Amino acid sequence: MAESILVDSALSKEEKYKALLPQIKALTTGESDLIANLANITSALKYGMDFFWIGFYMVKDNQLILSAFQGTVACTRIAFDKGVCGACYRAQKTLIVADVEAFEGHIACSSLSRSEIVVPIFHEGKVVIVLDVDSTQLSDYDEVDKKYLEEIADWIGTKLIN
Ligand code: SME
Repeated sequence: MAESILVDSALSKEEKYKALLPQIKALTTGESDLIANLANITSALKYGMDFFWIGFYMVKDNQLILSAFQGTVACTRIAFDKGVCGACYRAQKTLIVADVEAFEGHIACSSLSRSEIVVPIFHEGKVVIVLDVDSTQLSDYDEVDKKYLEEIADWIGTKLIN
């Protein structure tokens, strides 16, 4: 297992993701505990990408329940019909929200959050986890984030879930 994650802060966003992805795969390969892997992935992404908040919500008991995350405390349970996370679960696709105040039903876990991306993680054809990333800047997420976060979601769904 890698001892540390190295990403040059001077790199572009896309270059940072490209540097991080193989490190995330190496970090999680050979470890069978899902929560341990998700916890390390949130840390690698929070510090590698300088995210304000990043975390996973698990599909459990007919709702979304907070799992591994990095950042300030967050709401623990989200109904499928609530928030951007619930909308992502229902739509079964990545949602990019440029301005959270303009998204009806957005759940403000932090008053500092301004924009958000939520990515579904599929396992055997079903959404089993959603990955939520929040920023204090408006319009912080784009197709580059979508491409690489979906690659990480695919890694989790196909390689890390037993
Ligand atoms: N904003 C999310 C809730 C989770 S927190 O941001 C960590 C939503 O609207 O679903």
